[in-house]
Amino acid sequence: MTVLSLYPPTEEERPLQGLYLGLNLHRQAADGDLLIYSNYITSLDGRISLTTERPSQSQVPTDIINRRDWRLYQELAAQADVMITSARYFRQLAKGEAQDLLPVGQEDEYADLRDWRKSAGLRAQPDVLILSNSLDIPVAALKLLQGRRVLICTGNRAEPARGAALQAAGVELFVLDSPDVSGAAVKSVLIEQGYRSAYMIAGPQVHRTLIADRVLDRLFITTRLRLIGGAGFDTIVSGEIGGAADLQLLSLYLDRNVSTSQLFAQYALQQQ
Ligand SMILES: NC(=O)c1ccc[n+]([C@@H]2O[C@H](COP(=O)([O-])OP(=O)(O)OC[C@H]3O[C@@H](n4cnc5c(N)ncnc54)[C@H](OP(=O)(O)O)[C@@H]3O)[C@@H](O)[C@H]2O)c1
Repeated sequence: MTVLSLYPPTEEERPLQGLYLGLNLHRQAADGDLLIYSNYITSLDGRISLTTERPSQSQVPTDIINRRDWRLYQELAAQADVMITSARYFRQLAKGEAQDLLPVGQEDEYADLRDWRKSAGLRAQPDVLILSNSLDIPVAALKLLQGRRVLICTGNRAEPARGAALQAAGVELFVLDSPDVSGAAVKSVLIEQGYRSAYMIAGPQVHRTLIADRVLDRLFITTRLRLIGGAGFDTIVSGEIGGAADLQLLSLYLDRNVSTSQLFAQYALQQQ
């Protein structure tokens, strides 16, 4: 399993396995700082999700997901102290509709990543930070994350009874002083808690939250070289981000495997 390195322009074949693990994202932030990175798989026509038959429900299109991209998704998770996700993920998980149980995966093919975490001095699994205003988060789904610290950031209009129920289930609740959780607040909560690398795996609203405050450092995008169409869909960011955000290409690989033809790109967000 190899990929062709296009940028920087070495044009050499590299093994897919280890492509992102070598980035050492858990060691990039300076003392007292935090590196936040996100990752998406998208179709060439920009869809990261399609709406399903059920109203207001969506999922990653089955036409774009593939195991080679999933390997890189797992490698990025392996380097995270904490994963940032949305309440919606847990609502889906409770219905048995989530893609996975927040990696690092327990399958044999990811045993090397679990071992890598151990040798890098990281906890067995990343902790989890959830953004939610509704606090509609099924406790049964949270219980699946045994042994992992779960933090929730919520706005100042959250219902106290719901917050108390989640705290009783062992969650650490951070009620922030604005109606919506801001990216800056997420970053400062995570720094206060001693985290150095955070992997954002939620959708376009959480992404917007981080980009609007320019606290996102790196963006990984897999572009599956397919057009899939579809009327109801998400792209990687929704809503206002406070003006254009510039990106610098850090690396680009071409997966020439005919059945999964795709580009793996890594960008740095220019901090203004
Ligand atoms: N292709 C890919 O790589 C990829 C990656 C990630 C997600 N997706 C797909 O994208 C779709 C949308 O994902 P998603 O619903 O997880 O993403 P989202 O749109 O980022 O998050 C939605 C939920 O997160 C909470 N939230 C977001 N920003 C917030 C803020 N600033 N303050 C407080 N709460 C905030 C809200 O929860 P409450 O409603 O509880 O208030 C909101 O309903 C899904 O179909 C998912 O599968 C695709």
